[in-house]
Amino acid sequence: MKNINFEHIVTSLRATGCVFAEDEARILMSAARTSDELAAMVGRRSEGFPLEHVIGWAEFYGLRIAVDPGVFIPRHRTEFLVRQAAEIAKSGAIVVDLCCGSGALGAALAATLERIELYAVDIDPAAVQCARRNLDAAGGHVYEGDLFEALPTKLLNSIDILLANVPYVPTGAIELLPSEARIHEARIALDGGVDGLDFQRRVATVAPLWLAPGGHLLVEISERQAPQTVEIFAHSGLIPRVARFDELDATVIVGTRPSL
Ligand SMILES: C[S@@+](CC[C@H](N)C(=O)[O-])C[C@H]1O[C@@H](n2cnc3c(N)ncnc32)[C@H](O)[C@@H]1O
Repeated sequence: MKNINFEHIVTSLRATGCVFAEDEARILMSAARTSDELAAMVGRRSEGFPLEHVIGWAEFYGLRIAVDPGVFIPRHRTEFLVRQAAEIAKSGAIVVDLCCGSGALGAALAATLERIELYAVDIDPAAVQCARRNLDAAGGHVYEGDLFEALPTKLLNSIDILLANVPYVPTGAIELLPSEARIHEARIALDGGVDGLDFQRRVATVAPLWLAPGGHLLVEISERQAPQTVEIFAHSGLIPRVARFDELDATVIVGTRPSL
């Protein structure tokens, strides 16, 4: 049994450049079940592993979301996308969380609305496994595959809310990301192609076939990518609307399939 106390943890974390050493020390101490486990967690955090991967969960939309190593850690900024969806979704809505990662968005929307029919997809088996754990309580169906390919065809023409926080970092900007993302999250979770909008194009092109008339596609992008994304949506026949929340530096485009 190793003897490891609060001051020791704070000192170890500070020495490796951890900015919120005291807060993190408290979180690690409450997450570890034994002092050996605590020492191992402090070691991994000091080596640069993201806190969420070390403790195995991330706080998102007031929920505790399980996050396995390598799986994308849901960002607080994305809570704005969920809020936008919650404002337009109705009880009983058919919701798809495309590129779901841990399934955080679907879990958050399910926790907000009275009742939804929830489907989720990711191409990464580690993410799928994680999302199944997070969406089990909401009765979510989680599929492994490339975008819409894995979804049951009964959902054609019937999705009310399509949440799609797809990869949107321009390839050339990946090397500028903090090491926690660059090294510890899968590249496939980040890389959006040369201008970062490859996935937006693919999703917007096919989305009108899957959305119900009047259904909505919601994506997150950087503020700089907004005008181009609006064009992509309009070109695909979706009615685009930009929503912005400066406090979280969050930009969401909502694309609505016109009603019949
Ligand atoms: C930016 S992360 C977002 C994850 C989650 N939506 C969130 O906000 O926490 C993008 C996710 O897209 C998944 N992904 C990448 N390419 C995909 C594809 N072709 N089909 C389905 N999922 C894909 C990655 O595995 C990753 O989990």
